[in-house]
Amino acid sequence: MAQVLCQLPKVEDDNLLVGLDTSDDAAVYKIDDNKAMIQTIDFFTPVVDDPFIFGQIAATNALSDVYAMGGDPSLAMNIICFPNCLSTDVMAEILKGGSDKVKEAKAIIVGGHTVEDDEPKYGLTVTGFIHPGDVLTNSDAKVGDYLILTKPIGLGVINTAIKAQMTDEKTYNEAVKIMTTLNKKAKDAMVNIGVNSCTDVTGFGLLGHGLEMAEGSDVTLKIYSEKLPIIEEAKEFASMGLVPAGSYSNMNFIGDKVKFENDINQEIKDIMYDPQTSGGLLISVEKDKAKLLLEELKNHPTECRIIGEVIKKDKYPILVE
Ligand code: CO
Ligand code: CO
Ligand code: CO
Repeated sequence: MAQVLCQLPKVEDDNLLVGLDTSDDAAVYKIDDNKAMIQTIDFFTPVVDDPFIFGQIAATNALSDVYAMGGDPSLAMNIICFPNCLSTDVMAEILKGGSDKVKEAKAIIVGGHTVEDDEPKYGLTVTGFIHPGDVLTNSDAKVGDYLILTKPIGLGVINTAIKAQMTDEKTYNEAVKIMTTLNKKAKDAMVNIGVNSCTDVTGFGLLGHGLEMAEGSDVTLKIYSEKLPIIEEAKEFASMGLVPAGSYSNMNFIGDKVKFENDINQEIKDIMYDPQTSGGLLISVEKDKAKLLLEELKNHPTECRIIGEVIKKDKYPILVE
């Protein structure tokens, strides 16, 4: 996707604060000196069988790109692809799940569009607003920062296991909880404390989104592999070879920019490349403020941890130790 986007003609506009060039999460367009609009879209195929939960996950994921920019979502529209052969009750459940999360985000759904398609897909376009001076991008990590991750990783592996009906109820429920937790609280915490840079961790995995941050910020990210929050069962499944294709394509795409320093187990490497569905925020924050931020995140529904630091640009944009 990123490669294809590069081939689009360059867009230049004085009011376009964040556009295509930093591969950031959303576009930001300045309306006036006090207001900018954040615009984003995300949709995908079901990751779980339950249509209501799928709707919740897809909406949580779509809303996340606004939070990753430091903003609050205001408006959303449904985008839905749906086959004729499925009952419209299923569609209604998906939409209910989505609207449940939009409501929790204190935004409103103002419309949408449906297309007939063989495979169901659902997501949202989301519009949010922010002061132009408060926009957080993925390209402002500073040397000396700590990196904080606000959700465990391994969701791609777990979703593969869910499709193969290999997960137990506990693991399924844990994954659903992670994927349906809005990044709103994490956003509020980081805005309160004041941080340098942020992205959410989704399809390109921890290392892919980390790489975008490293390259955009002209620094190297050092990741502490032993400090990573990982869904316990994901390690088990990954060591059995239950690794989604997306993990390999992420590795093929960026592997030459990543250096693994010590002997790190293959399953941990796979999980670091693993595409996340509705993952957490990766936040780059001054070391002095990191403790305060973690304090602020103490009651966060998912585990938040320091997972690395930002160092001077090295030969490799990502070092894993
Ligand atoms: Co994103
Ligand atoms: Co996105
Ligand atoms: Co961003």
